[in-house]
Amino acid sequence: MYIALTKAYASETIKVYSERQPFLIEPLINQYEEQTGNKIEWIFSKKGLVQKTILEKDRPVADIFLSSDIARLIDITEAGANVEIPLQKNVPSNLQTNDWTSLTMRARVIYAHNDLQLEKISYEDLILPKYKDRVCTRSGYHPYNISLFSALIAHHGVEWFEDYIVKLKANLSRKPQGNDRDQVKAIYAGVCDVSIGNHYYYFKMMDDPNQIIWLEKVSPIFPNQDSYGSHVNISGIAIINNKNYDASIDFLEFLLNEEAQKIYANDNNEFPVNVNVKASERVQALANNAKFDSIDLQEIASNRKAVLDILNKINFDG
Ligand SMILES: [Fe+2]
Repeated sequence: MYIALTKAYASETIKVYSERQPFLIEPLINQYEEQTGNKIEWIFSKKGLVQKTILEKDRPVADIFLSSDIARLIDITEAGANVEIPLQKNVPSNLQTNDWTSLTMRARVIYAHNDLQLEKISYEDLILPKYKDRVCTRSGYHPYNISLFSALIAHHGVEWFEDYIVKLKANLSRKPQGNDRDQVKAIYAGVCDVSIGNHYYYFKMMDDPNQIIWLEKVSPIFPNQDSYGSHVNISGIAIINNKNYDASIDFLEFLLNEEAQKIYANDNNEFPVNVNVKASERVQALANNAKFDSIDLQEIASNRKAVLDILNKINFDG
């Protein structure tokens, strides 16, 4: 489907601070530019953009902030560096507010050694005695884990979580280190049996000739199918400048249209947030109709401070 965007405003340059590289969605950006006459200026950086946005909030340089994690969007909105946006009609209510909207969704899954022959597992299972010295993870302070831990507090409370995280640390086979894929490599190498990682790394490993071998012994499982569903994080967007507001909203809505959602989600093997758009076939095959935690992301974010305090208290990474 091709959605014509023919609003009558002079052509604008929309500057996007992005934690995501533009090259895979370049065709989409080109299409938007052709349709509207607007120009998209993509300013990519993996680090420092939140700080920059907050520092510049009284004189914003960019119009849009595009994040690969909910926490960074909340940092911006808590600092008052964003402009309100209307709710988007095809995006579930737990995945948007008037401060930000999601663009794609990713699940935090559990990777397990195939010899365990697990059909299901939960985040709560990771502290079972049978996983003593058999769990691997990246730093507890990585935004992906902070978000998961915040969700656990939302479901079980702070006291429960404090007990959980002590037991999780006791079950680790080594100090938290590396990225999500390094944990899968460690399972393959026999260092541990289970790890936590985002679902799309499965496809990144599958598409990498040096990493695909790890998947001979390791499989992802969408956790908590018997309870609240697998934890999800998002990539999302906030508008950070009043000046280019109409054009910025226009671009935001463009990224949520059906055609754009397909391209944008498939670029990283994620789930589209537009309810009318299906994930790619291979993502659907992997997820197998998995249930996702529908808890409000804003509520999860409000537990971040409690998570950090507890991680510090027990020196989780040490
Ligand atoms: Fe990632």
